[in-house]
Amino acid sequence: MILPMYIFGQPVLRKQAEDIPTDYPGLQQLISDMFETMKNAEGVGLAAPQVGLSIRVVVIDLDILKDDYPEYAGFLHAYINPHILEFSDDTCTMEEGCLSVPGIHENVRRSKSIHVTYLDENLQPHDEWVDGYLARVMQHEFDHLEGKLFVDKIAPLRKQMVKKKLMSMAKGKFNCAYKHKPN
Ligand code: NI
Repeated sequence: MILPMYIFGQPVLRKQAEDIPTDYPGLQQLISDMFETMKNAEGVGLAAPQVGLSIRVVVIDLDILKDDYPEYAGFLHAYINPHILEFSDDTCTMEEGCLSVPGIHENVRRSKSIHVTYLDENLQPHDEWVDGYLARVMQHEFDHLEGKLFVDKIAPLRKQMVKKKLMSMAKGKFNCAYKHKPN
Protein backbone atom coordinates (compact mmCIF):
# COMPACT_ATOMS: atom_id res chain seq x y z
CA MET A 1 0.00 0.00 0.00
CA ILE A 2 1.32 3.43 -0.94
CA LEU A 3 1.36 5.65 2.15
CA PRO A 4 0.88 9.44 2.00
CA MET A 5 4.15 11.38 2.22
CA TYR A 6 4.45 13.96 5.00
CA ILE A 7 5.82 17.22 3.60
CA PHE A 8 8.00 19.97 5.17
CA GLY A 9 5.88 21.76 7.76
CA GLN A 10 4.44 18.58 9.30
CA PRO A 11 5.53 18.46 12.98
CA VAL A 12 6.37 14.71 12.87
CA LEU A 13 9.36 15.53 10.61
CA ARG A 14 10.87 17.52 13.50
CA LYS A 15 10.42 14.92 16.23
CA GLN A 16 13.09 12.62 17.64
CA ALA A 17 11.97 9.11 16.60
CA GLU A 18 11.87 6.24 19.11
CA ASP A 19 13.48 2.81 18.94
CA ILE A 20 10.90 0.05 18.52
CA PRO A 21 10.63 -3.42 20.06
CA THR A 22 11.39 -6.24 17.60
CA ASP A 23 7.80 -7.49 17.97
CA TYR A 24 6.41 -4.09 16.93
CA PRO A 25 2.94 -4.86 15.53
CA GLY A 26 2.81 -4.91 11.72
CA LEU A 27 6.54 -4.23 11.27
CA GLN A 28 6.98 -6.40 8.17
CA GLN A 29 3.87 -4.87 6.56
CA LEU A 30 5.15 -1.37 7.37
CA ILE A 31 8.54 -2.15 5.77
CA SER A 32 6.79 -3.50 2.68
CA ASP A 33 4.55 -0.40 2.48
CA MET A 34 7.56 1.88 2.91
CA PHE A 35 9.38 0.13 0.03
CA GLU A 36 6.30 0.54 -2.16
CA THR A 37 5.89 4.22 -1.18
CA MET A 38 9.57 4.96 -1.86
CA LYS A 39 9.53 3.18 -5.23
CA ASN A 40 6.36 5.00 -6.29
CA ALA A 41 8.02 8.34 -5.51
CA GLU A 42 11.33 7.24 -7.14
CA GLY A 43 13.32 7.82 -3.95
CA VAL A 44 16.54 6.13 -2.81
CA GLY A 45 15.54 6.24 0.83
CA LEU A 46 12.55 6.74 3.10
CA ALA A 47 12.35 7.14 6.89
CA ALA A 48 9.24 6.33 8.96
CA PRO A 49 8.64 9.97 10.05
CA GLN A 50 8.10 10.75 6.35
CA VAL A 51 5.00 8.57 6.47
CA GLY A 52 3.92 10.05 9.79
CA LEU A 53 5.43 7.54 12.23
CA SER A 54 7.93 8.72 14.82
CA ILE A 55 9.82 5.41 14.98
CA ARG A 56 13.33 4.35 13.95
CA VAL A 57 12.67 2.48 10.70
CA VAL A 58 14.31 3.33 7.35
CA VAL A 59 14.30 1.70 3.91
CA ILE A 60 17.00 2.26 1.29
CA ASP A 61 16.95 1.27 -2.41
CA LEU A 62 20.28 1.74 -4.16
CA ASP A 63 19.33 -0.71 -6.92
CA ILE A 64 17.80 2.31 -8.68
CA LEU A 65 21.39 3.62 -9.14
CA LYS A 66 22.87 0.44 -10.61
CA ASP A 67 23.64 2.02 -14.01
CA ASP A 68 26.08 4.41 -12.31
CA TYR A 69 27.00 2.17 -9.35
CA PRO A 70 26.96 -1.51 -10.47
CA GLU A 71 28.03 -2.61 -6.97
CA TYR A 72 24.57 -1.60 -5.71
CA ALA A 73 22.58 -3.89 -8.06
CA GLY A 74 19.88 -5.61 -5.98
CA PHE A 75 20.55 -3.39 -2.94
CA LEU A 76 17.21 -3.09 -1.10
CA HIS A 77 17.42 -2.98 2.68
CA ALA A 78 15.50 -2.00 5.78
CA TYR A 79 17.18 -0.58 8.90
CA ILE A 80 15.52 -0.94 12.27
CA ASN A 81 16.68 1.13 15.28
CA PRO A 82 19.71 2.52 13.43
CA HIS A 83 22.15 4.73 15.29
CA ILE A 84 25.28 6.51 14.07
CA LEU A 85 28.08 6.07 16.63
CA GLU A 86 30.93 7.87 14.82
CA PHE A 87 31.46 10.16 11.85
CA SER A 88 34.72 10.32 9.86
CA ASP A 89 36.51 13.68 9.83
CA ASP A 90 36.82 13.29 6.06
CA THR A 91 33.88 14.97 4.36
CA CYS A 92 32.53 15.44 0.85
CA THR A 93 29.79 17.51 -0.76
CA MET A 94 26.95 16.15 -2.87
CA GLU A 95 23.62 17.43 -4.12
CA GLU A 96 20.65 16.05 -2.19
CA GLY A 97 16.90 16.17 -2.39
CA CYS A 98 14.19 14.74 -0.15
CA LEU A 99 10.73 13.28 -0.80
CA SER A 100 9.46 15.46 2.08
CA VAL A 101 10.95 18.64 0.58
CA PRO A 102 9.74 18.49 -3.05
CA GLY A 103 11.36 20.76 -5.64
CA ILE A 104 14.49 21.66 -3.65
CA HIS A 105 17.95 20.25 -4.40
CA GLU A 106 21.02 21.60 -2.65
CA ASN A 107 24.61 20.66 -1.89
CA VAL A 108 25.21 19.14 1.54
CA ARG A 109 28.57 18.42 3.20
CA ARG A 110 28.68 15.13 5.11
CA SER A 111 31.19 12.63 6.46
CA LYS A 112 32.59 10.16 3.93
CA SER A 113 32.16 7.23 6.30
CA ILE A 114 30.14 6.43 9.42
CA HIS A 115 30.08 3.81 12.15
CA VAL A 116 26.51 2.48 12.46
CA THR A 117 24.52 -0.06 14.44
CA TYR A 118 21.13 -1.37 13.37
CA LEU A 119 18.93 -4.42 12.96
CA ASP A 120 18.36 -5.56 9.38
CA GLU A 121 15.03 -6.68 7.87
CA ASN A 122 15.60 -10.15 9.40
CA LEU A 123 16.20 -8.52 12.81
CA GLN A 124 19.89 -9.47 12.74
CA PRO A 125 22.16 -6.96 14.52
CA HIS A 126 24.94 -5.16 12.64
CA ASP A 127 27.82 -2.98 13.86
CA GLU A 128 29.92 -1.69 10.97
CA TRP A 129 31.66 1.17 9.17
CA VAL A 130 29.94 2.22 5.95
CA ASP A 131 31.28 4.45 3.17
CA GLY A 132 30.49 5.56 -0.37
CA TYR A 133 27.02 6.45 -1.59
CA LEU A 134 25.41 4.28 1.10
CA ALA A 135 27.03 6.38 3.87
CA ARG A 136 25.60 9.50 2.22
CA VAL A 137 22.06 8.09 2.01
CA MET A 138 22.21 6.62 5.53
CA GLN A 139 23.22 9.99 6.99
CA HIS A 140 20.33 11.71 5.20
CA GLU A 141 17.80 9.06 6.26
CA PHE A 142 19.03 8.62 9.84
CA ASP A 143 18.92 12.42 10.23
CA HIS A 144 15.15 12.14 9.66
CA LEU A 145 15.03 10.03 12.85
CA GLU A 146 16.57 12.94 14.77
CA GLY A 147 14.04 15.41 13.37
CA LYS A 148 16.65 16.89 11.02
CA LEU A 149 16.27 17.67 7.32
CA PHE A 150 18.95 18.21 4.65
CA VAL A 151 17.93 21.86 4.26
CA ASP A 152 19.16 22.43 7.85
CA LYS A 153 22.69 21.56 6.66
CA ILE A 154 23.06 23.69 3.55
CA ALA A 155 25.35 26.73 3.35
CA PRO A 156 23.92 29.88 5.06
CA LEU A 157 23.62 31.80 1.78
CA ARG A 158 21.72 28.96 0.09
CA LYS A 159 19.54 28.64 3.19
CA GLN A 160 18.55 32.27 2.75
CA MET A 161 17.73 31.55 -0.91
CA VAL A 162 15.34 28.65 -0.16
CA LYS A 163 13.76 30.17 2.95
CA LYS A 164 10.73 31.63 1.16
CA LYS A 165 10.15 28.40 -0.78
CA LEU A 166 10.17 26.43 2.48
CA MET A 167 7.79 28.85 4.17
CA SER A 168 5.32 28.51 1.29
CA MET A 169 5.76 24.74 1.34
CA ALA A 170 4.84 24.63 5.04
CA LYS A 171 1.68 26.57 4.14
CA GLY A 172 0.75 24.01 1.49
CA LYS A 173 2.13 25.65 -1.63
CA PHE A 174 4.20 23.04 -3.45
CA ASN A 175 4.11 20.67 -6.41
CA CYS A 176 4.33 17.00 -5.60
CA ALA A 177 3.53 14.21 -8.07
CA TYR A 178 3.11 11.43 -5.48
CA LYS A 179 0.47 10.79 -2.83
CA HIS A 180 0.99 13.13 0.14
CA LYS A 181 -0.71 14.52 3.21
CA PRO A 182 -1.86 18.09 2.51
CA ASN A 183 -0.18 20.70 4.74
NI1 NI B 1 14.71 12.85 3.09
